[in-house]
Amino acid sequence: MSGVMEHLTPPIANRAASHACAYLEAVYERAVGATVSADQLRRLLGGTLPEHEEDPLAVIDAIAEAGRSGTVASQGPRYFGFVTGGSVPAAIAADWLVSAWDQNAQMFVMSPIAAVVEQIVAVWLKDLFGLPGPWSVGFVTGAQMANFTALAAARHHLLAQADWDVERHGLFGAPPIEVIVSDESHRTISTALRMLGLGAERARRVETDAHGRMRPDRLESALRSHGPCLVCAQAGNVNTGAFDPLEEIAGLTRSRGAWLHVDGAFGLWAATSEVKRPLLAGIDRADSIATDAHKWLVPYDSGLVFTAHPEAHQQSLVAPAHYIQMTPGEREPRSFTPDESRRARGFPLYAALRTLGRSGVRDIVNRCCDLAVLMASRLAAHDHARVLNDVVLNQVLVQFRRPGADDGTAAALTQRVIARVQADGTCWVGGTKWHDLVAMRVSVSNWSTTADDIDRSATAILSALDAAIAEAG
Ligand SMILES: Cc1ncc(COP(=O)(O)O)c(C=O)c1O
Repeated sequence: MSGVMEHLTPPIANRAASHACAYLEAVYERAVGATVSADQLRRLLGGTLPEHEEDPLAVIDAIAEAGRSGTVASQGPRYFGFVTGGSVPAAIAADWLVSAWDQNAQMFVMSPIAAVVEQIVAVWLKDLFGLPGPWSVGFVTGAQMANFTALAAARHHLLAQADWDVERHGLFGAPPIEVIVSDESHRTISTALRMLGLGAERARRVETDAHGRMRPDRLESALRSHGPCLVCAQAGNVNTGAFDPLEEIAGLTRSRGAWLHVDGAFGLWAATSEVKRPLLAGIDRADSIATDAHKWLVPYDSGLVFTAHPEAHQQSLVAPAHYIQMTPGEREPRSFTPDESRRARGFPLYAALRTLGRSGVRDIVNRCCDLAVLMASRLAAHDHARVLNDVVLNQVLVQFRRPGADDGTAAALTQRVIARVQADGTCWVGGTKWHDLVAMRVSVSNWSTTADDIDRSATAILSALDAAIAEAG
């Protein structure tokens, strides 16, 4: 071996690890937005494809250098954008091992340890969320793929009941599946329906209440038809954090014989908290659930799908091939995800759950929810700020409005405040629209956020508000 390959893996891994450690130390204090422009990044990292080898250590140094200013500090405690979440330290370290090991986690024979760890973590997660032991669990990239996988299982199950083999024959000539979603279903549900040939626009939309919760009375009327039926409910609205009334919904779907799917991308984690668990009453009567681990605990990407129908889950995915080698009596990870080759995603979760324990996960969820309430009360104390949602979990929606201002003027002020906050860099918040009102969205889901972070951030947001008001004159 010659040239660059003489730099064997350990020195490179050491160099990357020391850059990563320096980054992680800094990320808890630095400004949260990227501090360089895209053009600067292109200058730092771009150019033509090198014709000849470059020193790998120099390449790692260049990436780390650009990453210092080019990354968004979403690992930091004052990043409140998009329900991003942070990763607990042991999960980050376990993820590095996953890269070093480079296991293909699709089959037991390709990585016994990856298959066994998924099996262990699946049991722990069902225990943590209060889900029945026989349920199946798949480790996917995120809630989008978890929703997709769950709805593929639903499609299989509902059509098998109608004597139709959808995996063999597709949907041409199949009995129609009635799909019911809510006005507030996350867009990833529509994407999953599109990818499964069920049609996003074809779904019936059930009205929601002022908080974004599906109305059971409206669902009841929508359920009057006959034939295969799939209902998609939600635990945790991406704007308000509101939960659909799952107990009532499950009662209705059970008596209709419909499949109930719950998108709990971040809301399922309420099950870990004795205070928040009532929001999920009835969840164990669902047929499938999607959630994300990367929204609270581990690095991207880590989504989870749970189903009460292990056979439908696997049947919807299996595609035999001669080279596939199954190991009798062992869990085959590939049977539960649409992916073929994939990363050993169970390890970061294993490390997070084992280092935190049940009480540690509960404390993170409880703390984030308490801090969201603190943020809401700090902001609401300003005469020109209005919290638009009931802060039931970790989401806070705020609009800024001067007395007598119309919606358009309030929207402009809110957007100016968001832009100022993002430029200031004490914390990072994004914008959204809630029932036609432009709002600032604060999502608290990082294990390292403290009351002091909320205080500093609220002060920065309110200063941005005062400055935006002064600027408007
Ligand atoms: C309710 C809901 N569903 C699905 C998703 C998509 O999750 P992911 O980006 O992990 O696929 C999100 C993301 O915020 C969400 O809030």
